[in-house]
Amino acid sequence: MAAPGAGRTALVFGGSGQIGRPLLARLADAGWRVLAVSRQSQDARGGVRWLRGELAGCRNLPADVDAVLSCGPLDAFAAWFARGDVACARVVAFGSTSLEVKQASADAAERDVARRLREAEAQLFAAAAPRGIGASVLRPTLVYGAGRDATLTRIALLAQRLRGFALPDDATGLRQPVHVDDLADAAMACLDAPDAHAKAYALPGGETLAYREMVRRVLATLPRRPRLVVLPSALFRALLAPARLAGIAAGFNDAALARMREDLVFDAAPARRDFGYAPRPFAPDAAMFTPPA
Ligand SMILES: NC(=O)c1ccc[n+]([C@@H]2O[C@H](COP(=O)([O-])OP(=O)(O)OC[C@H]3O[C@@H](n4cnc5c(N)ncnc54)[C@H](OP(=O)(O)O)[C@@H]3O)[C@@H](O)[C@H]2O)c1
Repeated sequence: MAAPGAGRTALVFGGSGQIGRPLLARLADAGWRVLAVSRQSQDARGGVRWLRGELAGCRNLPADVDAVLSCGPLDAFAAWFARGDVACARVVAFGSTSLEVKQASADAAERDVARRLREAEAQLFAAAAPRGIGASVLRPTLVYGAGRDATLTRIALLAQRLRGFALPDDATGLRQPVHVDDLADAAMACLDAPDAHAKAYALPGGETLAYREMVRRVLATLPRRPRLVVLPSALFRALLAPARLAGIAAGFNDAALARMREDLVFDAAPARRDFGYAPRPFAPDAAMFTPPA
């Protein structure tokens, strides 16, 4: 029997990223002819042909392909797609649940992220519909698995360095960490799901757990078993300013602190119904938080 992608060509943006890498491997394994765009030169491997370029301006693209996939920034991708340079029948692009999570943030920059995501989705769907292109947007929650994410891998590295990690006692908001391989599987399944056209889907992980429990499980995978220290929230807040000055909590803003108390929970049912989305529960191992060499 022919491979499901045999004879079809996929153009992929963001293929060098943490979700992009496993997606490229799956496309090639399924027999797709894969063209991946990167701003850097990349080694040809695994049946992928790399093109040098970026979303703002990419030359040497084919005139038409069967599918375009994006694991890059959604706003830049939507703007590229709206120009209509490459004909295709199907588009699957990653966005983010930040579109909802950050829309009412106290932080103006975070609200701007949500606005740009919302506008990018609207631009993508508006450009796809009149051209008869089936577009889908996939919105992951908190991504982990390749040692390249900015949340759990960062926590793991910091905890290793400090031999411990502190959280406030009200870090009880619910989270749904999602593995990069489950996201790549979702994109593959979505590609051939006609019911997914003109829709956006939340892609949460397969388990909903409290922030503190999520961090406890990360720390439990690490070689030196760093201790999780739970501090009264007022004390944690007081220690945050010197920690930021010391560079330990750089980028951890007040909005992120407030979010630790919030439940960020999304429904996987539409993705399950339309393309069989079945993410794993959160059972991490150390390799998932080890940055690639
Ligand atoms: N990480 C998360 O927790 C998370 C959560 C929710 C949603 N998402 C979304 O999921 C998607 C993939 O995320 P990720 O974490 O896998 O991303 P990532 O590891 O940061 O990789 C993104 C890739 O996009 C490419 N890229 C960036 N700017 C580009 C440009 N101007 N033109 C062309 N390519 C560009 C880069 O490729 P080159 O450097 O090779 O050019 C990079 O490999 C993104 O849309 C992201 O917003 C991520």
